[in-house]
Amino acid sequence: MTILLVGSGAREHAIARALDLSPQKKEIHCLASNMNPGIAGLCNELIVNDINNPDIVSNYAKEAGVSLAIIGPENPLACGVADSLLDVGVSVVGPKKVLAKIETSKAFARKLLTEYAIPGCPKYRTYSSTNGVLNFLTELGEHFVVKYDGLAGGKGVKVSGDHLHSHDDALAYCQKLVDEGGEFIIEEKLIGQEFSLMSFCDGEHLKHMPAVQDHKRAYEGDKGPNTGGMGTYSDANHGLPFLTDDDIAQAHAINISTAKALKDKFGEGYKGILYGGFMATANGVKLIEYNARFGDPEAMNVLSLLESDFIDICVGIADGTLGQVDVRFANKATVCKYAVPEGYPDSPIKDEPIDVSGISNPDGLFYASVNIQNGQLVEAGSRTIAVVGVADSVSEAETIAEKEVSSVRGPLFHRTDIGTDEVIQKRIDHMNSLR
Ligand code: AMP
Ligand code: GLY
Repeated sequence: MTILLVGSGAREHAIARALDLSPQKKEIHCLASNMNPGIAGLCNELIVNDINNPDIVSNYAKEAGVSLAIIGPENPLACGVADSLLDVGVSVVGPKKVLAKIETSKAFARKLLTEYAIPGCPKYRTYSSTNGVLNFLTELGEHFVVKYDGLAGGKGVKVSGDHLHSHDDALAYCQKLVDEGGEFIIEEKLIGQEFSLMSFCDGEHLKHMPAVQDHKRAYEGDKGPNTGGMGTYSDANHGLPFLTDDDIAQAHAINISTAKALKDKFGEGYKGILYGGFMATANGVKLIEYNARFGDPEAMNVLSLLESDFIDICVGIADGTLGQVDVRFANKATVCKYAVPEGYPDSPIKDEPIDVSGISNPDGLFYASVNIQNGQLVEAGSRTIAVVGVADSVSEAETIAEKEVSSVRGPLFHRTDIGTDEVIQKRIDHMNSLR
């Protein structure tokens, strides 16, 4: 089978490795945004081109004789790359543009939950002007969030207490969004602990992955600007130390209901990864947002645990036969840590050489925003290298990940606190104090 992987970050490196581990006979091609040596080493061909251009991607797929494509990032989904691949007869893991609205429009996601009475939706209202904003802010009091209604890499969300310190601050941000021609949402600020619960979905059947917790803030102690995610962990029982079995069951039920609602609304099912970003609160599990793809870094956690044949899962998603596919994850804990360029995320340095020769387990190393210049591995300006530790406990996995990420040489930094006993205890104490 000839398989096309679209994208070239650490998430796609993890996908490429999972494909490579399948015993099936295959040829892997990658359409990339940067020269990722980890993916290149697993592929028959890696081509750097515009992965968001549907014609470029589908023409390449036709020429290369691709029968199955896996789309890693959200931007190609938002641009209709899945649609154009389906049009030329390629099976796709990744939803069509209209179904990817579950990620690309926060207002659409909220309205779908309301329309189908799916639990977990906070109070919200959608706006295209500042009319009525102050009334709703007054109703919400001091706990509010303002969100730009589109893809903004997590940067369009401003939370009270964090980024907005008064209703005037909120109004000023809303006015800025209106001036830029954008629509926006105001919603209730949820208090609790965030977690990611991703499900494989073939349009009808879902198979859930272990829960993962990401750390979005750039600096230790959850301080500093938001990022794509600095690191993640998952536990051996596929739950998280601060979650109950019932929390996990609620998240599963929300993903199942959302997939059903999407099928009902569009008359065809969502085929891909349905990634729920949830908040465990004192009043049950709430949905923060949906993503239409694997999380990055979450993909590195879960795919490092996958025991089943990933190609079978992808074919099951694309063909609608996922219900018959065996999907199993090892009962191990994982910790993933990202090394990022100095200055990330606001003013990252780039093109500086880095050295990964100190890494002891190459299977736990994932290349992200890197390039090769004059034969030298360099930082390309965003999250650079991810490492994953896998062990019986989060604590042991953290020790491995910390040792590995510290061995990467170059002008980089990482968060030493992710996955440590101290931080996990804080999460548990926080949830206990809320419940
Ligand atoms: P999003 O792009 O919707 O994931 O938002 C980015 C981050 O903003 C989330 O990971 C949360 O930390 C925070 N956030 C978004 N919506 C809410 C909410 N309703 N309550 C509290 N925090 C939120
Ligand atoms: N880890 C957050 C994301 O992938 O959006």
